[in-house]
Amino acid sequence: MEKTIVKLTGVKVYRNSQLTLDIEQLAVAPGELVAVAGANGAGKSTLLQVVNMLLPFQQGLLTLFGQDVAKGGQEIARRSSSMMFQETLLINGTVYDNVALPLKFRNYPRSQIQEQVMTALRTFQCQHLAYRQAKQLSGGEAQRVGLARALVYQPQLLLLDEPFAALDTASRTAILTDLKQVAALNKLTVLLISHNFNDVLYFADRVVVLAGGRVIQDDRPEVVLRRPASRAVADLVDMDNILPCQVEWSGQEAIIRLSCGLAFKQNSSVPAEAVACCLPGDAIQILNESSALRHQPLVTVSGIVAGITPGIGAYKIKVEANGLFLTVRAPREQILALTTGSKVEVAFSPDEVQLV
Ligand SMILES: Nc1ncnc2c1ncn2[C@@H]1O[C@H](COP(=O)(O)OP(=O)(O)O)[C@@H](O)[C@H]1O
Ligand SMILES: [Mg+2]
Repeated sequence: MEKTIVKLTGVKVYRNSQLTLDIEQLAVAPGELVAVAGANGAGKSTLLQVVNMLLPFQQGLLTLFGQDVAKGGQEIARRSSSMMFQETLLINGTVYDNVALPLKFRNYPRSQIQEQVMTALRTFQCQHLAYRQAKQLSGGEAQRVGLARALVYQPQLLLLDEPFAALDTASRTAILTDLKQVAALNKLTVLLISHNFNDVLYFADRVVVLAGGRVIQDDRPEVVLRRPASRAVADLVDMDNILPCQVEWSGQEAIIRLSCGLAFKQNSSVPAEAVACCLPGDAIQILNESSALRHQPLVTVSGIVAGITPGIGAYKIKVEANGLFLTVRAPREQILALTTGSKVEVAFSPDEVQLV
């Protein structure tokens, strides 16, 4: 059995006598890059504070690096983990002073401090900033220096509470690319809170989605994105199509009825209380005469193009079919002949439908 870095079992946190965190089971393996997602107030920060031992929990078990924190595991956890917040509090003084701080606290010898600070700065491409005043850095620079400081003592676990949320997309992508490389190189385990699902796709191997303090989905980013476990997750990932539906059962088989009159059979995993169909826009195809797709077991529907939004990679096409609006994502060259008002026939496979 592989050793876990973080493990929570039956952990409950009450704040103002409200149950704020309720984790039945959550284990993170060495080197995993885990995103923690969820709406505001879902309990993401609470979870990270518990893991960082900043917040006591009223029930359950927390083991870090294989040791129960209630039984002397705190010391190793303090030495081996590091946390960074949205507001990186850089102290007065140079960038060098800031990054050297954790090593000074730990009484590292002078020569080693010099070497590790410069290595950490190089890692995050900010060695040229070493003798600048930390308070005068730009937002992106400050967060790079913050990362260098968080990792200068080579912790094995890094906890990030939305530290890059205020940066522009390009800076965020660049910093996460560097961090991903550093993590792979050092077998660093990372828990990254983010409400930006694109960061998650880019960075993480795994996404833990929280709502009301509970884990409501824990899976690969692609699965969370395309197969949300509930309506809350579908909303969080900004699912293209969340179509209200009715489910009729005939034995084991479910018939799904959409409001436009469309009905199709669904054999796999239909929750008894399902009320909506989730369908990613790229799972809907625009049919044309030469389309061989007609021969597949597809659900087809005729509609009218209600709008086209350009995009890189895929255009978004709104199709209206009997009052139902579908969002379709298709490559530009496939939709060159279409304009608003064009008649189209679109199709999807029931296999791509996730019922919630
Ligand atoms: N210091 C606190 N005291 C009492 N309740 C808090 C405190 N911080 C957060 N909460 C409550 O705990 C819940 C979870 O908050 P939080 O973990 O910060 O959510 P998130 O980071 O997902 O936005 C919210 O209902 C919030 O109001
Ligand atoms: Mg938070």
